Formats: sequence, structure tokens, C-alpha cells
Amino acid sequence: MVAAIRPAGPGDGEPLGRMGAALARQHHDFDGDRFMVSDGIEEGYRRWLLKEAESTEAVVVVAELDGQVVGYGYGRLEGKDWNRLLDRHGELVDLWVEPQARKAGVGAALVEDVARRLFERGAPRLVLSTSSKNHTAQRLFTRLGFRPTMLEMTREAPGPPPAPTSPRRPPGAR
Ligand SMILES: CC(C)(COP(=O)(O)OP(=O)(O)OC[C@H]1O[C@@H](n2cnc3c(N)ncnc32)[C@H](O)[C@@H]1OP(=O)(O)O)[C@@H](O)C(=O)NCCC(=O)NCCS
Repeated sequence: MVAAIRPAGPGDGEPLGRMGAALARQHHDFDGDRFMVSDGIEEGYRRWLLKEAESTEAVVVVAELDGQVVGYGYGRLEGKDWNRLLDRHGELVDLWVEPQARKAGVGAALVEDVARRLFERGAPRLVLSTSSKNHTAQRLFTRLGFRPTMLEMTREAPGPPPAPTSPRRPPGAR
């Protein structure tokens, strides 16, 4: 059965919170120093994604299969950024498909839907970052026409870790 993709609404808070937290934890498992998580990230993601779903600058869509939400995609319009040498663009921020619904085209459908909505809102291109360890996602994005353009590298400070700085997004959000 083909998943239906639709904009997220107020009733999607629970699955959005759960899936956003799972995505954050997956990244923390990839590299616990680089990818932060904290307690209660389900609630942080629930609130943040529902708020973003209301924004004209953002797109939050869910995939529904047999009446169940089995995935979500989140992207937003971003302005010119000289630090990144990146003109205004759409950013694909989050993508998650529940394990039992994978390898059936849901991930591809979510990416295409977010891309279409951001292009319709004027984004001239779509940019994303993916963990260097996430080969599954990289295969999907390559298949969908994304080309590699940047490689992020990270080095830890010597000695004990400094006090955490306050995040721009809610705790744990990627
Ligand atoms: C990455 C992720 C979103 C992919 O979702 P998905 O729904 O499995 O994606 P798709 O089904 O569109 O494609 C995945 C694979 O299934 C294959 N596939 C798609 N439909 C298929 C079908 N009907 N029969 C058999 N295989 C199929 C695709 O060809 C693709 O194969 P590949 O891995 O060899 O490239 C999913 O694995 C996930 O949520 N992972 C955890 C979160 C994550 O890593 N997110 C990305 C963060 S950057």
C-alpha cells in the first residue's frame, strides 16, 4: 500500500515528538560528542515541529499508512548565508521513517514532497546535511539527485568538556 503524504497538523504531536527524538538519538549513537541529546526531547520535538508546521517559512509533512503516521519530513526556507557561501535555499532538516515502513518508497516520497513545497515557495535549491556514517540515507539522497557538496569535520577541545551553550532550537533538536 502506498503511503499518503500530507501536511502535519495539531493531532500529529505525539508521533512527531517520538520520531524527532528517535532521529536525534540515532545521531547521538553515531557520534555522542558531536550530536547532542537531552532528557525530554520528545516534548521538545513535539512543540518545535508543531510550531514549525504553522510557519510560512517551514514545511512539516507526515506519511500515513493504514491510518498510522509512519514518517515525517521537515524542511525550511533559509536566507543568504555568507559564512556558508550559500544563497537563499531550502534546507531539508529532518527525515524519519518508522523501521517497519522502510524500503517501500516512503522516505523518497517524503523528500519529494518537502522539495516540491519548498520549490513552490521559491527555494532555488534544496540543501541537506547527513551524518557521514548514515550510508542508508546517503544512498537515498544520491538516488534522488542530491550531489555531495560539503564535508563537516569535528575536533574536541583538550581537557574536560566546557559548559554547554544554550541551543538555538529546543533540547536535542538536530
Ligand atoms: C533513510 C530513511 C528515511 C529511508 O526511508 P525509506 O522509507 O526506507 O526510503 P525508501 O524506501 O524510499 O528507500 C530506501 C531503499 O528501499 C528501496 N525500495 C524502495 N521501494 C522499494 C520496494 N517497493 N521494494 C524494494 N525496495 C524498495 C529503495 O530503492 C532504497 O534502496 P537503497 O537503500 O538500496 O537505496 C530511513 O531509513 C530512516 O528513517 N532512517 C533513520 C533516519 C535517518 O537516517 N534519516 C535521515 C537523516 S539525514
